[in-house]
Amino acid sequence: MSFHHLSPCHYLPILFFAFCCVSLLSEPALCATRHYTFNIVSQNVTRLCHTKSIFSVNGQFPGPPLVAREGDQVLVKVVNHVANNITIHWHGIKQLRTGWADGPAYVTQCPIQNGQTYTYNFTITGQRGTLFWHAHISWLRATIYGPIIIFPRRNDSYPFEKPYKEVPIIFGEWWNADPEAVISQALQTGGGPNVSDAYTINGLPGPLYNCSSKDTFKLKVKPGKTYMLRLINAAMNDELFFSIANHTVTIVETDAVYIKAFETDVVVITPGQTINVLLKTKPTSPNATFIMAAAPYFTGIGTFDNSTVAGILEYKHLSSHKNITVINPTLPAINATGVVANFTKKFRSLATAKFPANVPKTVQKRFFFTVGLGSSPCPANTTCQGPNGTKFAASINNVSFALPSTALMQSYFFGKSNGVFTTDFPSQPTHPFNYTGTPPNNTLVSNATRTVVLQFNTSVELVLQDTSILGAESHPLHLHGFNFFVVGEGFGNYDPINDPANFNLLDPVERNTVGVPSGGWVAIRFFADNPGVWFMHCHFDVHTSWGLRMAWIVLDGFLPNEKLPPPPSDLPSC
Ligand SMILES: *[C@@H]1O[C@H](CO)[C@@H](O)[C@H](O)[C@H]1NC(C)=O
Ligand SMILES: *[C@@H]1O[C@H](CO)[C@@H](O)[C@H](O)[C@H]1NC(C)=O
Ligand SMILES: *[C@@H]1O[C@H](CO)[C@@H](O)[C@H](O)[C@H]1NC(C)=O
Ligand SMILES: *[C@@H]1O[C@H](CO)[C@@H](O)[C@H](O)[C@H]1NC(C)=O
Ligand SMILES: *[C@@H]1O[C@H](CO)[C@@H](O)[C@H](O)[C@H]1NC(C)=O
Ligand SMILES: *[C@@H]1O[C@H](CO)[C@@H](O)[C@H](O)[C@H]1NC(C)=O
Ligand SMILES: *[C@@H]1O[C@H](CO)[C@@H](O)[C@H](O)[C@H]1NC(C)=O
Ligand SMILES: *[C@@H]1O[C@H](CO)[C@@H](O)[C@H](O)[C@H]1NC(C)=O
Ligand SMILES: *[C@@H]1O[C@H](CO)[C@@H](O)[C@H](O)[C@H]1NC(C)=O
Ligand SMILES: *[C@@H]1O[C@H](CO)[C@@H](O)[C@H](O)[C@H]1NC(C)=O
Ligand SMILES: *[C@@H]1O[C@H](CO)[C@@H](O)[C@H](O)[C@H]1NC(C)=O
Ligand SMILES: *[C@@H]1O[C@H](CO)[C@@H](O)[C@H](O)[C@H]1NC(C)=O
Repeated sequence: MSFHHLSPCHYLPILFFAFCCVSLLSEPALCATRHYTFNIVSQNVTRLCHTKSIFSVNGQFPGPPLVAREGDQVLVKVVNHVANNITIHWHGIKQLRTGWADGPAYVTQCPIQNGQTYTYNFTITGQRGTLFWHAHISWLRATIYGPIIIFPRRNDSYPFEKPYKEVPIIFGEWWNADPEAVISQALQTGGGPNVSDAYTINGLPGPLYNCSSKDTFKLKVKPGKTYMLRLINAAMNDELFFSIANHTVTIVETDAVYIKAFETDVVVITPGQTINVLLKTKPTSPNATFIMAAAPYFTGIGTFDNSTVAGILEYKHLSSHKNITVINPTLPAINATGVVANFTKKFRSLATAKFPANVPKTVQKRFFFTVGLGSSPCPANTTCQGPNGTKFAASINNVSFALPSTALMQSYFFGKSNGVFTTDFPSQPTHPFNYTGTPPNNTLVSNATRTVVLQFNTSVELVLQDTSILGAESHPLHLHGFNFFVVGEGFGNYDPINDPANFNLLDPVERNTVGVPSGGWVAIRFFADNPGVWFMHCHFDVHTSWGLRMAWIVLDGFLPNEKLPPPPSDLPSC
């Protein structure tokens, strides 16, 4: 087989076998449509001296980067060769009127079953930077994930110094056990899932774990250059601190939106977030090797993986030096909420003529959602390992969202919602309490498939309030189908009288995932200008599995380009 006559716009799976691991990125070829084939396969991988079978795309772990330019059309043909059902989500892609390509199972589509194929078809509109793709069904994203790299349009440049090289840095979470068995056992017993055995950088746990030094990510750099690290947190359940010894980085972009640049020693990144940073290397090769490391930020109760993943920043031409020291970075304490708050408050939109911040200045619909944990009753004649013998649950406004057995968006589009979902999701808590004070005695959640319906182009304000039920904890909330502006945040209970006066409506950061502060609240605004059914959920998969999720239905507008088109003919059915 020869590849000479293949256009560079077609990325064949076989080509990806040729190079291992995530390497330096190069700019994409000139083409407006990019074709990818993602074969979902099983492969054996060895980490921490355990060999196990994992699911992957094209036999690559982490998966292949999807590389495009702003404005490109992307066609990804997903072929499922494994027994498990699969869907892929293009995390952060706005999917303007292409909700059928968004990917969350039982929300916008039924899963792609064994032997089936589905082609995701979308155009990248008004976004450039780093995002990522991942499986969006059960816990399969534990190993099925990879970067989305969106270069600016040809002839467009970055609003900062052009980097010498660009490198994806994807954080992941590794279980020696099968992650599907981990979540299925947890849902059965009602207890917390077994924690992961390691964090990874580009699939590699690094030297701080047993039997793992050979699996260490190493970034070889030249002195006096600027590198762009495209950071992606693809971990399942953990927010991470990241730092490189003796180097500060300059943050220039998050969630595929440029921001006002700022320097930092430590980066905080929640699952679902992406951050581009510039790393200026030392002017001359130092006699040292620098460790880059990531470890969790956690304030909840219960067990979690408190281990540290490390990689190496190595200057080239060190061999001539005789005395090379290894320098470790200092990471904040596991519960350093003050560091997180100070860091997140530094993010600001560019808000320039070329990159405006189109913040809704007035609000048509206001929502106040509590997010947090709770419990479900233990079924008769079983013992449960959750709080006080119940099962762990999680909810928004006390609704633990039940996924239907068919896809919400198909039911909506074909007018068959009866028995699938209702449209009465509470816009505020039905039983207000002191959300960050002593929790109520009754912490039982309700289970239902309830949605919110919005008229096309409604300006929405949503306040997300953490609760202290079963421990105050930061929750990275991810909204599909839109970016939103983070107009305010604070600790304690949101005060609807006084807090709005401090909202930033000029240059708030634009994101698709925001950490609701532990024991606090965050206010976001967006225009509901994308017709379809859009999932919103905690990007800790354990919380999503427990029900911390809901869906918005955005109705069609009047104009033809304000309507959700009919589904593609190959959309899977249930
Ligand atoms: C993985 O390893 C198992 C046990 O050694 C073997 O039976 C299986 O064929 C391997 N799978 C793949 C995809 O190589
Ligand atoms: C992709 O979607 C566009 C409309 O959004 C349509 O014109 C085109 O035919 C589709 N392509 C494929 C290969 O399905
Ligand atoms: C690393 O940073 C420490 C503390 O700032 C400093 O003492 C040391 O000289 C630095 N080492 C190198 C090789 O940059
Ligand atoms: C590195 O070490 C060599 C000798 O071991 C020394 O000559 C040189 O000055 C050192 N360079 C730096 C940057 O410290
Ligand atoms: C991680 O947790 C274990 C068990 O709770 C504890 O023994 C250990 O000291 C912790 N490690 C760190 C680095 O905090
Ligand atoms: C090696 O470098 C370290 C730190 O820079 C220094 O303390 C030590 O004296 C050096 N050793 C030699 C043999 O030069
Ligand atoms: C973090 O945990 C330590 C040890 O448990 C505790 O002493 C400290 O007060 C905590 N810090 C915060 C900010 O909660
Ligand atoms: C956060 O910033 C405030 C104001 O600049 C400062 O007083 C405080 O020490 C910082 N907290 C942490 C944990 O860095
Ligand atoms: C629970 O166990 C009791 C006694 O063994 C039995 O009578 C009852 O039918 C069981 N209930 C259920 C729901 O299985
Ligand atoms: C568990 O039960 C104890 C004693 O009845 C009670 O104090 C505590 O609040 C309960 N915890 C939860 C999470 O319900
Ligand atoms: C809520 O609880 C917190 C912590 O106990 C307390 O400081 C605060 O005053 C309470 N707020 C109200 C409105 O009762
Ligand atoms: C795959 O999805 C279909 C449709 O929801 C369902 O009927 C089937 O049981 C699922 N198969 C597996 C292996 O989970």
